[in-house]
Amino acid sequence: MNPVLDIAGVRKRFTLHLRDGLQLPVLDGVSLQVGAGECVALVGPSGRGKSTLMKCLYGSYAVDEGALWLHRASGERIDLARAEPRQILALRRREIAYVSQFLRSLPRQPALDVVAERLLEADPTDPEADADPLDDTPYLAALEAARERAGALLARLNLPPGLWGLPPATFSGGEQQRVNIARGFIEPARLLLLDEPTASLDAANRRVVIELIEEAKRRGSAIVGIFHDEEVRDSVATRRFDFTES
Ligand SMILES: Nc1ncnc2c1ncn2[C@@H]1O[C@H](COP(=O)(O)OP(=O)(O)OP(=O)(O)O)[C@@H](O)[C@H]1O
Ligand SMILES: [Mg+2]
Repeated sequence: MNPVLDIAGVRKRFTLHLRDGLQLPVLDGVSLQVGAGECVALVGPSGRGKSTLMKCLYGSYAVDEGALWLHRASGERIDLARAEPRQILALRRREIAYVSQFLRSLPRQPALDVVAERLLEADPTDPEADADPLDDTPYLAALEAARERAGALLARLNLPPGLWGLPPATFSGGEQQRVNIARGFIEPARLLLLDEPTASLDAANRRVVIELIEEAKRRGSAIVGIFHDEEVRDSVATRRFDFTES
């Protein structure tokens, strides 16, 4: 297998400074490879470090030992645990998508643009292009096209069009989660991280998410997910990684 992701001997402990520096070992030598088109489900009891590993993969947490290699389309590899913050931000825009249980978006940004923006970030207009910097036409055309695709995906996820123009802050849990899912799936990410993507969804929308995950697998994304819903897990996971054994 040519892995997209190669987690090699990762150890991480939290130091609890408010409790006299008590050390809490959470990841104790985790090794895992994930190839294109695979969906690995992290399973194991609560508190064993599944979400912590996700946060390490998203570049939010450092590790004490080991490496999290992302093999990029260009052929080079980068250790997500040690990449520079600006590299992490660039990877998050273009190669890594993370669907968490909770949506974080800018205040006042309409739901449609929360999703559409992901496409514009992933494919920014070439700043070197020989264009008049005051001419908004190419940007507006790209925005229009991105909004069209965003709307199609939100419709597929049964989000009522009346909500598309509103900021998601006041949406229900399931509505916010669907905006988050649309944002995570609209652009094929090389590495897709899913932390409980169906937790607040009804059966019909769970089925849409299962389809989206299948499509992402076919497009060659490497997927790492936490799915407490066993039906969803059984239908999408190509493999399980058990935290009780690591
Ligand atoms: N930022 C942090 N600082 C200190 N301890 C933390 C931190 N984040 C997580 N922990 C601790 O690390 C352990 C693993 O937490 P984590 O959230 O990764 O578990 P999990 O496997 O995702 O559990 P669940 O299935 O309940 O979501 C827990 O004991 C938790 O209290
Ligand atoms: Mg968790």
